[in-house]
Amino acid sequence: PFRQRLLVVANRLPVSAVRRGEDSWSLEISAGGLVTALLEEPNPYSDDFFKGVKEFEARWIGWAGVNVPDEVGQKALTRALAEKLLNSANDVYRVLQKCIPVFLDEEIVHQYYNGYCNNILWPLFHYLGLPQEDRLATTRSFQSQFAAYKKANQMFADVVNKHYEEGDVVWCHDYHLMFLPKCLKEYNSEMKVGWFLHTPFPSSEIHRTLPSRSELLRSVLAADLVGFHTYDYARHFVSACTRILGLEGTREGVEDQGRLTRVAAFPIGIDSHRFISALEALPVQDHIRELAERFKGRKVMLGVDRLDMIKGIPQKILAFEKFLEENPNWRDKVVLLQIAVPTRTDVPEYQKLTSQVHEIVGRINGRFGTLSAVPIHHLDRSLDFHALCALYAITDVALVTSLRDGMNLVSYEFVACQDAKKGVLILSEFAGAAQSLGAGAILVNPWNITEVAASIAQALNMPADEREKRHKHNFKHVISHTAQEWAETFVSELNDTVVEAQLRT
Ligand code: UDP
Ligand code: G6P
Repeated sequence: PFRQRLLVVANRLPVSAVRRGEDSWSLEISAGGLVTALLEEPNPYSDDFFKGVKEFEARWIGWAGVNVPDEVGQKALTRALAEKLLNSANDVYRVLQKCIPVFLDEEIVHQYYNGYCNNILWPLFHYLGLPQEDRLATTRSFQSQFAAYKKANQMFADVVNKHYEEGDVVWCHDYHLMFLPKCLKEYNSEMKVGWFLHTPFPSSEIHRTLPSRSELLRSVLAADLVGFHTYDYARHFVSACTRILGLEGTREGVEDQGRLTRVAAFPIGIDSHRFISALEALPVQDHIRELAERFKGRKVMLGVDRLDMIKGIPQKILAFEKFLEENPNWRDKVVLLQIAVPTRTDVPEYQKLTSQVHEIVGRINGRFGTLSAVPIHHLDRSLDFHALCALYAITDVALVTSLRDGMNLVSYEFVACQDAKKGVLILSEFAGAAQSLGAGAILVNPWNITEVAASIAQALNMPADEREKRHKHNFKHVISHTAQEWAETFVSELNDTVVEAQLRT
């Protein structure tokens, strides 16, 4: 059967490489929602083992997360990434698409990834503004970082172009690659190009402050189809184009001299089956037993986040402190487990956040801890898939307090693992997921610590029938909106958009 070739282009490959010798590499799964969403992982526990890979013949193009200055290393890594099978830490084989590396040198990574992407675009798109202390320094380095950003995007485009075959669909992802659609169309105006943003797109009033505001919008508009997680983000993008570029926004998208760029919302989902069936696996069952024993007699609250300022981790912990303060009877009956996956550790703002969180956790544990127990277990590390599933399953209350978040897949994964326990999800109203899981979750404004503390009390005291009702609502949504469908919908919409455009001309 004909399988269309799909070139997925994202800054980060689903695997990160670790060098073991001059020409040997080992690969580890990268963390983050984008990778989870796009990692085609046919489920070894289910019947439709090959369902995930049937539709497209996909290739990933992206950065492997390491600097490889020498040719021997580059060749060896290119070979290692082209392999299809990968043995992950917990002996579950994951079937991956073939990966093709883009090699970025240290200076580019510094200016493009640490600088323009993660010190400028990321905070801005999440309404956090530029870093307070370094605002002037950031303003000064803006031009050189933007130049590096364009250069990096051009390097991605070169690799895409090298591997492109007529009829391929090219799907570009995220804020790192806003310049890519334009570069690709300059190479070949026939290329089918889609671009999807995994973060919020902010109000045009925020986007307006970016010195490169117009150039970025124009290059995204070179794509045939532009997608966002929510209708609000799509609407913000269209109004940025009308207000900043003076173009016409229609229900379909944005028009520029007769040429239409389709703009639409494609809310992502997860491969819920993978989580649900993992709960049956023996290693997960073992983990569950161990955890249940360790926290016997206490309710478990859980946070799972990259250690990122958008996740509102300090706010969450302060709210938990307030809850303990106001509810002395709960002090020895509840524990907060916070998994904080280290991320972007070369960016100063992230380093500051790490020490800030450590300080708050230390203070609260000092204040409320006893010789035998502390209220907060904070881990600066990632967990393997089985350990993560077990944690989701034994949790009574999950706390997602993002200050802004494109979607937030952790909330979906928690719901998928809770069909036995029917725990409560406390969810920030500023996460994209609030639009889909809002009815079952307790929605909170994470900036309002008093409100979050009250929600913790409400969640811990919630009667079983209400928990069940809320869980059912969310569970239904999570199992009926899969990552696979999301990808298929986007790509088929992209194919249709191109056909319609050809009919118009
Ligand atoms: N995750 C991970 N390793 C961990 C903990 C979590 O890879 O130790 C995964 C988690 O399962 C989820 C993703 O990281 O799929 C986080 O996605 P989310 O959309 O919640 O946030 P993002 O990190 O993309 O901002
Ligand atoms: C978010 C972004 C992704 C990114 C991930 C992890 O999910 O939308 O594009 O890959 O965070 O961040 P990192 O900088 O490590 O790739």
